[in-house]
Amino acid sequence: MSGKTIWLTGLSGSGKSTLASALISVFGARGHPCAFLDGDVLRAGLNRDLGFSALDRSENIRRASEIAKLLSDLGNMVFAAFITPMEDLRRAVRSVFEPGDFVEIFLNCPLRVCEARDPKGLYVKARHGLIPEFTGISAPFQTPERPDFVIDTDQFNLKESIEQVVNFLEKRFPEFSVASVPKLHRDRNSRKIAVIGLDCAPPSIIFNQSSRLANIESLMRHGVWGPLKSTDPPITIPAWTTITTGRDPGELGLYGFRNRLTHDHYNVITVNSKHVPFPRVWDHLETYGKRSILVGIPQTFPAEPHSGVTIAGFPAIEDSPDLTHPHGLINQLSCLGNDPYLSDIRDFRTLPKDNLLQGLYSMVDLRFRVAHELLLKEPWDFFMMVEIAPDRLQHAFWGDYERQNPGNSVEARWKDVIPNFYKYLDDKIGGILALLDDETTVIIVSDHGAKKSTGGVCINEWLIRKGLLVLKEAPAQETSLTEDMIDWDKTYVWSEGGYYARIFMNLQGREPRGIIKRADYERFRDNLRDELVAMPELNGERSTNVVLKPEELYRSVNGVAPDLIVYFDSLNKRSVGNVGMKSLLVRGNVAGLDACNHDHEGIFIATRLSDLRKGAKMDVTVSSASCRDIAPTIFNEYGLKCPENILGSAIAIGAPPETSSISAEIPKIYGRDVNFDNEGKGFTAEEEEIVRRRLSDLGYI
Ligand code: ADX
Repeated sequence: MSGKTIWLTGLSGSGKSTLASALISVFGARGHPCAFLDGDVLRAGLNRDLGFSALDRSENIRRASEIAKLLSDLGNMVFAAFITPMEDLRRAVRSVFEPGDFVEIFLNCPLRVCEARDPKGLYVKARHGLIPEFTGISAPFQTPERPDFVIDTDQFNLKESIEQVVNFLEKRFPEFSVASVPKLHRDRNSRKIAVIGLDCAPPSIIFNQSSRLANIESLMRHGVWGPLKSTDPPITIPAWTTITTGRDPGELGLYGFRNRLTHDHYNVITVNSKHVPFPRVWDHLETYGKRSILVGIPQTFPAEPHSGVTIAGFPAIEDSPDLTHPHGLINQLSCLGNDPYLSDIRDFRTLPKDNLLQGLYSMVDLRFRVAHELLLKEPWDFFMMVEIAPDRLQHAFWGDYERQNPGNSVEARWKDVIPNFYKYLDDKIGGILALLDDETTVIIVSDHGAKKSTGGVCINEWLIRKGLLVLKEAPAQETSLTEDMIDWDKTYVWSEGGYYARIFMNLQGREPRGIIKRADYERFRDNLRDELVAMPELNGERSTNVVLKPEELYRSVNGVAPDLIVYFDSLNKRSVGNVGMKSLLVRGNVAGLDACNHDHEGIFIATRLSDLRKGAKMDVTVSSASCRDIAPTIFNEYGLKCPENILGSAIAIGAPPETSSISAEIPKIYGRDVNFDNEGKGFTAEEEEIVRRRLSDLGYI
């Protein structure tokens, strides 16, 4: 097969080399021989006699295109990253190749953005006149007149850019699509992995023998298991996104399912799949030709294209075509009959308890039916589903579960709701296990645990009383705090409520109407931290508030992180963001509150079904696993190299797996160009309203 040349043109800093090396990893992993020609590399060797005059650039490009031709005639996919600033140079390059063997891709990125990135520090030097004839500053760059593809690298993060270019190249050169990867080069390891996620499942129930969860217990006896440290903060989003990327919330720039997008805005918006800046486990696996079935995983709406299938999880809009990939998948499922598919329960804080319970049982039944049908119908290598029901159940029934000596028979009945529900889930898991062959490794995982909530701290009321938060007028009644209610010119600090408090400071030069001076920032923040730890205003209420700075928690802090993160009474109390509250402390199970808060420890069980079916005794406990170890564990279990720079490490499930038949490394998709500019990626105004209403029904806002 003749090779192809993919010529990347664009300013220095537009991302040519980063994109080229990522593309080589993608296509290399599929077994296509690839070659990389990079301007800097050629200029350091073969072309070291050349400078940056028009003539020298022309010679540089001539030599590069001749080498590209030689390499592609040998059957390589050649990725060439050269500025190639002038149209006549690009025309000359094109003329070297057969028309069907060449594409020109323009990395369109404004000079201002390239200059701000300045990865090699050259723009700064050029501006000071230290580098003459610098492209974009003192030498011209002509916009390409007829590129085959344009990618706006300031608009998309690296993951999205790769996706777009891969799609384009697969269409232009069908011989490079996953489907036509030469059999010889495909990963011949036949191992499959099935991950079943139980949102909020705590060790105290799952690992407790008296829960009598026969299938789960059997997986434990024949596998490895232990508590799983959640993320900080321990909440659904970001925890599942850490589980599926191996990145911590700071790296992801995700601090909850509602996030501030930029410091230019005070408001928060609901995040979706487009706000995940790193590839997920299944994106990596796809480069090995592995196909995935994904059901109910949080932050996968809108469902993104891949070679397998997706039914998106919370927060999702069920009647949107983007609930599934491919579109219309739900209508093809015979198991649903006339039942509408539910990604999450509605109105769970207001429904009568009997109806709620009924709804949760039907939702679980539906989701497992769907999982069954997909597992039977679809070819797959990786299966992952997340059931959100245990979280909803526990928020509603944890008080009954922990109640000592329940009085009347109704109360006694509620006490068993949670254990009985887990037995039901365990049966459903048994149903899935029965469909899986011996080559499958099963991972059961939860994103965080659960513990009793003893009330809530009205953080914004506290800030108001301290004079740090000033409202334009006092609210007549309890209401959620919105941006327009705040007198920003007098406000130093405000907070988002939820299971934990996010404290934001109104900093000059960062927030639109900031009033805290930069020079005072650290001192102010430290004082605030001390006051939040103690909170004497809570009148003798024993306080063990944990107050953290994001930079102490995360390797890098991206997106808009809170200035401080607060776990009230070590998460025994939640954070109430509402204002117009009569007291600082809300006790017990008041409307809008619930009986359960999240705990730091979830659960992890991993078992090779061959061990279970042989009866091999394992029962290995792991004490220090964390959410970020799940992705490396999955790669390891497939015998694949883990992407670079992931913080977590693989948990060994048994004897080391057979290593993959292909040696190409997983794409090095980390870092430099990952773009946290999330503007424009959110839900449309209409969708945001639907999601907002749904979240409000769930009691979140
Ligand atoms: S081209 O113009 O001849 O296509 P080429 O892609 O080979 O350029 O090399 C560009 C790289 O050389 C830049 O990424 C940068 O690192 C370095 N460089 C050094 N001096 C210059 C300059 N005057 N103009 C552009 N790039 C320069």
